[in-house]
Amino acid sequence: MSAPKKLFIKTYGCQMNVYDSERMAEALGGEGYVETKSPDDADMILLNTCHIREKAAEKVYSELGRFKGLKAEKPDLKIGVAGCVAQAEGQEIMRRQPLVDLVVGPQSYHRLPEMEAKAREGEKVLDTDFPEEDKFEKLKNRPKAKRGPTAFLTVQEGCDKFCAFCVVPYTRGAEVSRPADRILREAQDLVERGVREITLLGQNVNAYHGAGPNGDMTLAQLIWELDKVDGLERIRFTTSHPNDMQDDLIEAHGTCAKLMPYLHLPVQAGSDKILKRMNRAHTAESYLRLIERIRAARPDILISGDFIVGFPEETEADFQATLDLVEEVKYGTAYSFKYSTRPGTPAAERPQVDPAEADDRLQRLQALLTKQQREVQDSMVGRDVTVLFEKAGRFPGQMVGKSDYLHAVHVADCDRAIGDLARVRILSSGANSLAGALID
Ligand code: 5AD
Ligand code: SF4
Repeated sequence: MSAPKKLFIKTYGCQMNVYDSERMAEALGGEGYVETKSPDDADMILLNTCHIREKAAEKVYSELGRFKGLKAEKPDLKIGVAGCVAQAEGQEIMRRQPLVDLVVGPQSYHRLPEMEAKAREGEKVLDTDFPEEDKFEKLKNRPKAKRGPTAFLTVQEGCDKFCAFCVVPYTRGAEVSRPADRILREAQDLVERGVREITLLGQNVNAYHGAGPNGDMTLAQLIWELDKVDGLERIRFTTSHPNDMQDDLIEAHGTCAKLMPYLHLPVQAGSDKILKRMNRAHTAESYLRLIERIRAARPDILISGDFIVGFPEETEADFQATLDLVEEVKYGTAYSFKYSTRPGTPAAERPQVDPAEADDRLQRLQALLTKQQREVQDSMVGRDVTVLFEKAGRFPGQMVGKSDYLHAVHVADCDRAIGDLARVRILSSGANSLAGALID
């Protein structure tokens, strides 16, 4: 038997890409590939790329350039670009970087085995179609390999919202939900392989409307079906849009014990003028009222968000409105970005904010968000939380896991195994994590 071929995948960007990279590794696993952690001994390198901000795409080109020497040494090495840069730039990638053999868009991963075979024969292959079939169904897990305690599961892809800054509706296409039975089968399979916590993924996950036995299901209905899966202990979902936060989902946060008290609900900005120009279709006030209703259902829920500063025509007063909104919400975590022009999106053509001004706003916003994040984390001290252990810590006897609120928690003298859940009393709060002790 010949030695297995080696596959190196580097993943950029969101959790959807992490999930897709796992599926690509499984698809190529069927072709005799095993994963390697280093590009140096790989027979195939795949970059699973992100196009959300300009720098992300440029990083891909500089990374590709670095493989030049490797390819010269090893002419059989195949190099592929997957993900949203592949979708957005297609043929342009091969033109700009001739050492690329294969370009595959996010909707075509099930075709990777055929594409790899063609590339092996020396062809340059490109597939960035949006086929009708369910790529995940075609990418069914072959080996029943054991898994870690947490996993992502894609339930919905694409977006119809067309926020004026965002490439997702162009790179990931129209919003599509997977049928519930396939998701439930995949969840069952993950649990049989050791998974205790599933994070449902979608660019607009709470717009989920997949086919169920009696018509389309909402995300909340899907969560209640997952709630019945024995051995599955925790359910999370990301990313949500405020306008799709339906009543049954808010209610589930109060009543479904497996649904974790954490919600990533991006608002992007606090000024109604900017929100309108972003085509967000909600106001600062409607977002704040929504947060109020969610907190009424689940008072301890930790809210997370995304922000963009320096969006075209953002004034200092508009930016102040973002700071005011942040003060009011009090975020447990948040991601904030400087606006980055994406060609082809409506905002790209508008008057841009001075970059130095945008940098300054980003710093001020991040200072406030970091302070809030720390306050929320510190407020956990003295409280009892449930921790799902994910790995051994750096010190003997120490284990590390995540609390219900997604905080990393270190536990010393811990006789529990990876995949166990335990009640833990939080004793202290550090820079990026908590420390606690088992409660018997
Ligand atoms: N510039 C800056 N940030 C962006 N995001 C999306 N598009 C852009 C852009 N053009 C941010 C949004 C989104 C997150 C995933 O990335 O905040 O919620
Ligand atoms: Fe992009 Fe807006 Fe869709 Fe989110 S909701 S993926 S920011 S277009």
